[in-house]
Amino acid sequence: MKIFTRIALIGVVVSMFACVNNKQSDLPNDTVACDTNSITYNKHIAPIFEKNNCLNCHSAVTASAGIILDNYNDAAANAEAVYPTIAWGPSLPAGKKMPVGGPQVSNCELAQFKAWINQGKTE
Ligand code: HEC
Repeated sequence: MKIFTRIALIGVVVSMFACVNNKQSDLPNDTVACDTNSITYNKHIAPIFEKNNCLNCHSAVTASAGIILDNYNDAAANAEAVYPTIAWGPSLPAGKKMPVGGPQVSNCELAQFKAWINQGKTE
Protein backbone atom coordinates (compact mmCIF):
# COMPACT_ATOMS: atom_id res chain seq x y z
CA MET A 1 0.00 0.00 0.00
CA LYS A 2 1.30 3.43 -0.90
CA ILE A 3 2.01 5.84 1.91
CA PHE A 4 -0.56 8.37 0.60
CA THR A 5 -3.29 5.74 0.63
CA ARG A 6 -2.44 4.88 4.22
CA ILE A 7 -2.60 8.52 5.30
CA ALA A 8 -5.95 8.94 3.55
CA LEU A 9 -7.33 5.84 5.33
CA ILE A 10 -6.15 7.09 8.71
CA GLY A 11 -7.89 10.40 7.98
CA VAL A 12 -11.18 8.63 7.25
CA VAL A 13 -10.97 6.58 10.44
CA VAL A 14 -10.17 9.64 12.58
CA SER A 15 -13.06 11.65 11.13
CA MET A 16 -15.49 8.77 11.92
CA PHE A 17 -14.56 8.99 15.59
CA ALA A 18 -14.92 12.78 15.53
CA CYS A 19 -18.56 12.37 14.46
CA VAL A 20 -19.32 9.89 17.25
CA ASN A 21 -18.16 12.42 19.82
CA ASN A 22 -20.46 15.19 18.52
CA LYS A 23 -23.69 13.42 19.45
CA GLN A 24 -23.91 14.70 23.04
CA SER A 25 -25.10 18.18 22.03
CA ASP A 26 -28.13 16.71 20.22
CA LEU A 27 -29.91 15.45 23.35
CA PRO A 28 -33.61 16.48 23.28
CA ASN A 29 -34.98 18.74 26.03
CA ASP A 30 -37.30 16.10 27.40
CA THR A 31 -34.47 13.99 28.76
CA VAL A 32 -33.81 16.75 31.32
CA ALA A 33 -35.62 16.14 34.62
CA CYS A 34 -38.94 17.98 34.84
CA ASP A 35 -39.88 19.46 38.23
CA THR A 36 -43.65 19.57 38.75
CA ASN A 37 -43.58 20.21 42.51
CA SER A 38 -44.94 23.46 44.00
CA ILE A 39 -45.74 25.15 40.69
CA THR A 40 -46.56 28.86 40.96
CA TYR A 41 -47.73 31.48 38.50
CA ASN A 42 -44.82 33.79 39.18
CA LYS A 43 -42.03 31.21 39.09
CA HIS A 44 -43.23 28.83 36.34
CA ILE A 45 -46.39 29.83 34.49
CA ALA A 46 -45.62 33.47 33.60
CA PRO A 47 -42.21 32.44 32.14
CA ILE A 48 -43.94 29.72 30.05
CA PHE A 49 -46.33 32.33 28.59
CA GLU A 50 -43.42 34.66 27.89
CA LYS A 51 -41.13 32.07 26.35
CA ASN A 52 -43.87 30.81 24.01
CA ASN A 53 -44.97 34.28 22.83
CA CYS A 54 -48.47 33.96 24.32
CA LEU A 55 -48.33 37.54 25.60
CA ASN A 56 -47.77 38.93 22.08
CA CYS A 57 -51.40 38.07 21.38
CA HIS A 58 -52.95 37.73 24.85
CA SER A 59 -51.92 40.82 26.82
CA ALA A 60 -54.55 43.23 28.13
CA VAL A 61 -53.91 45.31 24.98
CA THR A 62 -53.93 42.56 22.34
CA ALA A 63 -56.38 40.05 23.95
CA SER A 64 -56.97 37.72 20.98
CA ALA A 65 -60.30 35.86 21.47
CA GLY A 66 -60.76 37.93 24.65
CA ILE A 67 -58.13 35.82 26.44
CA ILE A 68 -55.77 37.80 28.69
CA LEU A 69 -52.79 35.98 30.21
CA ASP A 70 -50.45 38.77 31.37
CA ASN A 71 -51.52 38.84 35.04
CA TYR A 72 -52.26 36.26 37.73
CA ASN A 73 -56.03 36.75 38.05
CA ASP A 74 -56.77 36.50 34.34
CA ALA A 75 -54.30 33.64 33.83
CA ALA A 76 -55.88 31.67 36.69
CA ALA A 77 -59.41 32.36 35.40
CA ASN A 78 -58.43 31.15 31.89
CA ALA A 79 -56.27 28.18 32.96
CA GLU A 80 -58.82 25.45 32.13
CA ALA A 81 -59.40 27.02 28.70
CA VAL A 82 -55.66 27.29 28.08
CA TYR A 83 -54.75 23.68 28.82
CA PRO A 84 -56.38 22.04 25.75
CA THR A 85 -54.97 24.75 23.47
CA ILE A 86 -51.38 23.88 24.49
CA ALA A 87 -51.96 20.10 24.79
CA TRP A 88 -52.76 19.80 21.05
CA GLY A 89 -55.06 16.78 21.45
CA PRO A 90 -56.28 15.02 18.27
CA SER A 91 -59.78 16.60 18.43
CA LEU A 92 -58.48 20.19 18.75
CA PRO A 93 -59.07 22.23 15.56
CA ALA A 94 -55.82 23.46 13.98
CA GLY A 95 -56.77 27.12 14.53
CA LYS A 96 -56.97 26.58 18.29
CA LYS A 97 -53.46 25.15 18.63
CA MET A 98 -51.47 27.65 20.71
CA PRO A 99 -49.15 29.38 20.28
CA VAL A 100 -50.40 30.47 16.82
CA GLY A 101 -47.42 30.34 14.46
CA GLY A 102 -45.07 28.68 16.93
CA PRO A 103 -43.93 25.22 17.97
CA GLN A 104 -45.83 23.43 20.75
CA VAL A 105 -44.72 24.03 24.35
CA SER A 106 -42.33 21.39 25.68
CA ASN A 107 -43.61 18.26 27.43
CA CYS A 108 -42.23 19.61 30.69
CA GLU A 109 -44.02 22.96 30.30
CA LEU A 110 -47.26 21.11 29.58
CA ALA A 111 -46.78 18.89 32.66
CA GLN A 112 -46.04 21.95 34.82
CA PHE A 113 -49.16 23.73 33.55
CA LYS A 114 -51.32 20.71 34.37
CA ALA A 115 -49.69 20.46 37.81
CA TRP A 116 -50.38 24.16 38.42
CA ILE A 117 -54.11 23.58 37.85
CA ASN A 118 -54.17 20.39 39.94
CA GLN A 119 -52.28 22.09 42.79
CA GLY A 120 -54.82 24.92 43.02
CA LYS A 121 -53.24 27.61 40.78
CA THR A 122 -50.93 29.18 43.35
CA GLU A 123 -49.83 32.76 42.63
C1 HEC B 1 -49.83 35.12 17.00
C2 HEC B 1 -50.90 35.32 17.95
C3 HEC B 1 -51.14 34.31 19.05
C4 HEC B 1 -50.24 33.70 19.87
C5 HEC B 1 -48.73 33.82 19.86
C6 HEC B 1 -51.00 32.93 20.82
N1 HEC B 1 -52.33 33.05 20.55
FE1 HEC B 1 -53.85 32.20 21.59
N2 HEC B 1 -55.18 32.90 20.23
C7 HEC B 1 -54.87 33.67 19.12
C8 HEC B 1 -56.06 33.81 18.28
C9 HEC B 1 -56.13 34.56 16.96
C10 HEC B 1 -57.09 33.08 18.93
C11 HEC B 1 -58.52 32.85 18.43
C12 HEC B 1 -58.50 31.50 17.73
C13 HEC B 1 -59.88 31.04 17.27
O1 HEC B 1 -60.77 30.90 18.12
O2 HEC B 1 -60.04 30.79 16.08
C14 HEC B 1 -56.51 32.56 20.16
C15 HEC B 1 -57.23 31.83 21.08
C16 HEC B 1 -56.71 31.38 22.28
C17 HEC B 1 -57.47 30.77 23.33
C18 HEC B 1 -58.99 30.51 23.30
C19 HEC B 1 -59.22 29.18 22.59
C20 HEC B 1 -60.69 28.86 22.50
O3 HEC B 1 -61.09 27.89 23.11
O4 HEC B 1 -61.42 29.59 21.83
C21 HEC B 1 -56.60 30.45 24.34
C22 HEC B 1 -56.95 29.80 25.66
C23 HEC B 1 -55.28 30.87 23.91
N3 HEC B 1 -55.38 31.43 22.67
C24 HEC B 1 -54.13 30.68 24.64
C25 HEC B 1 -52.84 30.92 24.14
C26 HEC B 1 -51.62 30.50 24.80
C27 HEC B 1 -51.54 29.78 26.13
C28 HEC B 1 -50.59 30.91 23.99
C29 HEC B 1 -49.12 30.63 24.17
C30 HEC B 1 -48.74 29.24 24.36
C31 HEC B 1 -51.17 31.58 22.85
N4 HEC B 1 -52.55 31.56 22.97
C32 HEC B 1 -50.45 32.17 21.84
C33 HEC B 1 -53.65 34.22 18.85
C34 HEC B 1 -52.46 33.86 19.47
